[in-house]
Amino acid sequence: MKAAHFKNLRPVCPRCRRESGALIALEVVHVSPGAESAGGRKEILACPAHGCRQEYPVIDGMPVLVPDVRGWVQANERDILARRDLSDELGSLLGDCLDPAGPHNVTRHNVSAYAASHYGTGTDDTEQGTVHGLLRAAMAMAGPLPPGPVLDLGCAVGGTSFHLAGALEGRLVLGMDMGFGLLRVAHEALETGEVVYDLRMNGLVYRRCRRPLWQGPAGPVDFWVGDASALPFAPGGFAMVCALNLLDCVHSPVEVLQQIDAALVPGGVCLLAMPFDWSVSATPVEGWIGGHSRRAGDGGCPVTRLRAILADGDWPLPGMRLRLAGAQTVPWAVRLHDRAEMLYQSELMVLSVPAGPSDGGGAVDVA
Ligand SMILES: C[S@@+](CC[C@H](N)C(=O)[O-])C[C@H]1O[C@@H](n2cnc3c(N)ncnc32)[C@H](O)[C@@H]1O
Repeated sequence: MKAAHFKNLRPVCPRCRRESGALIALEVVHVSPGAESAGGRKEILACPAHGCRQEYPVIDGMPVLVPDVRGWVQANERDILARRDLSDELGSLLGDCLDPAGPHNVTRHNVSAYAASHYGTGTDDTEQGTVHGLLRAAMAMAGPLPPGPVLDLGCAVGGTSFHLAGALEGRLVLGMDMGFGLLRVAHEALETGEVVYDLRMNGLVYRRCRRPLWQGPAGPVDFWVGDASALPFAPGGFAMVCALNLLDCVHSPVEVLQQIDAALVPGGVCLLAMPFDWSVSATPVEGWIGGHSRRAGDGGCPVTRLRAILADGDWPLPGMRLRLAGAQTVPWAVRLHDRAEMLYQSELMVLSVPAGPSDGGGAVDVA
């Protein structure tokens, strides 16, 4: 966990924030000797509030700042305790023996799918259809940004966070995700300058890929585990929130949209992309934005319904400040294996919070 990120982003207890709205700054309560530039490695953060005292682990340098720490650790047990020292050959043999639908092979598959889009496969590395194509298109539509850090929500293996850090020179960028196995790829790249992941060829056959990171490890990027629906921050701290292909993967998309809105400073910008690929394994039907109720005036169209709940829409969510600044449909492909990919048409929206009367000074162009 980088000291600059902890100091500047001032994380608050996500449990207190969710349960009572209280904004209690987290404290470092345990540092292991050695490592982290001789200052020691921070291993446990905690909420100082008497009625809470929740502890938050920092695992392999990534703080876990979710309201339900116990639930998260149990859900991510296999990835947290996974061996990282196995050779390509031995890892391949063990992968053959393990349940194809078990946690090891599911994480391997997910890492392969997102790493191919974020870092390329080494065979055909055009930007078309990758997440970088989406991000570049979104940044070209965004106007000037106020000063402040950038939050990359649902960053998966982190390629977009490195991209943002490179494009928005000098700004603090935080990549945040709930999936430890995905985030670990990002964090290891940050520490070593090299992305290492297993690319799925077919079935249980994977090929180890090593790609140099285009953005050096010294960049102002860090990766934390966090829940987009319970952000561990006081409101109004970020100049930009990027949430690419996230909303249809969460329990309550509307709640996440409200969290993004609250996280932004006046004049702040949100880069949103969604294929609206609703699935009840992630979102109950009640939470879907569109994709049901064809009888309604909008015919169940998700884009129309999302526009309607923005501040300048027909049925704005209470307290919503985000307005539509631009939109386009951009192809986004998720590679499954050598012979298959899922091609989506992702709806890209640039949303902005109106600047306050005295804001606007120091704004810089992001394109
Ligand atoms: C479809 S993937 C998109 C990844 C990446 N943004 C991209 O476009 O390539 C959705 C990501 O959101 C993450 N995610 C799901 N629920 C989340 C939550 N509540 N908070 C933060 N991240 C979440 C998943 O772990 C996954 O990495």
